Amino acid sequence: MSKEDQLRWNQRFADGAYQGRTHPSDLLAQHQNLLQSLTYDNNAHALDIACGLGRNSAYLLKHGFNVTAVDISDVALSAFRKAYGDSSQLSIVAHDLDQGLPELDRQFDVILKIRFLSEPLLRTLRKHLKPKGLLIVEVLMQTEENQTAGPKASRFRIAPGGLREALAELNILHYHEGTVTDPDGKVSVVAQAIAQRCE
Ligand SMILES: C[S@@+](CC[C@H](N)C(=O)[O-])C[C@H]1O[C@@H](n2cnc3c(N)ncnc32)[C@H](O)[C@@H]1O
Repeated sequence: MSKEDQLRWNQRFADGAYQGRTHPSDLLAQHQNLLQSLTYDNNAHALDIACGLGRNSAYLLKHGFNVTAVDISDVALSAFRKAYGDSSQLSIVAHDLDQGLPELDRQFDVILKIRFLSEPLLRTLRKHLKPKGLLIVEVLMQTEENQTAGPKASRFRIAPGGLREALAELNILHYHEGTVTDPDGKVSVVAQAIAQRCE
């Protein structure tokens, strides 16, 4: 990502983008039962890739995870830090994910990648999961429909079947391609998956 793109994201957040989206991703909230089994010893670690304002990180913190949250937008991250920065369970990292993940000194029980598409990055995530760790992904999907939220350009949307193919080395526990209605009423066409590292 160029400096220009970073400035574009900063401008979007400075203009108030996503401020109304305080609810966690439905995909995450609806599978809370899967998360519960991971937090029994208070030592579970989650990685939130492209965390934005941190709505999903906040949900994971509330449910007992230590969270490492990564994003390129310092405007989004400073708003997130202001709201949650005091938590000793939270580590916020400013980083360009087009360069891959930042240096990480651990594997994770959960990796979250919600509404941020980078297929090359997606294919590297297995090694960052602990055995039995979960990868939770939701990305916009290419569609002929016009009345859906989000950018229309196909480079921001995965092809049908593309997510399943990218996760071929993981055990898929949940998979859905199609429309979802967010709690704010917006309809999006997405591919979503919850996949587990087997060993
Ligand atoms: C649609 S928002 C989703 C935010 C969050 N995952 C959520 O569900 O609320 C996409 C996020 O990706 C971040 N982003 C875009 N390109 C990035 C890059 N190259 N490296 C890191 N973050 C990036 C943006 O700053 C923005 O916060």
